[in-house]
Amino acid sequence: MAYSEEVIDHYENPRNVGSMDKNDPNVATGMVGAPACGDVMKLQLKINEEGIIEDAKFKTYGCGSAIASSSLVTEWVKGKTMEEAAKIKNTQIAQELALPPVKIHCSILAEDAIQAALEDFKSKQQALAQG
Ligand code: FES
Ligand code: FES
Repeated sequence: MAYSEEVIDHYENPRNVGSMDKNDPNVATGMVGAPACGDVMKLQLKINEEGIIEDAKFKTYGCGSAIASSSLVTEWVKGKTMEEAAKIKNTQIAQELALPPVKIHCSILAEDAIQAALEDFKSKQQALAQG
């Protein structure tokens, strides 16, 4: 299978690999799995008081396309508002990386991870508000 140069670049030089303290109230954690293959992706976002994503880290146990997708979204979400990040679609990721059809679910994993992280942030904020 031929991979695009961008997939190979993100796979060989993944951006923002790592993790943040999940107990930090400003850190949102999204952990998702792909039923199709069992791969797992963890995406963490550091979100400031204005709702701007200041930092992003990921750890992905999966194929090259899943790693490239997570690396790409960590770059895309930085500096975005939560609302803007919520609009990132797997189709944009797949298009940017020129993923072949059998690898589309890898980009869905990245979209799901963003959504899961944003949900985690909202429930954390609610829990804090309730004391
Ligand atoms: Fe095994 Fe994705 S199917 S790494
Ligand atoms: Fe399953 Fe890529 S995430 S093959």
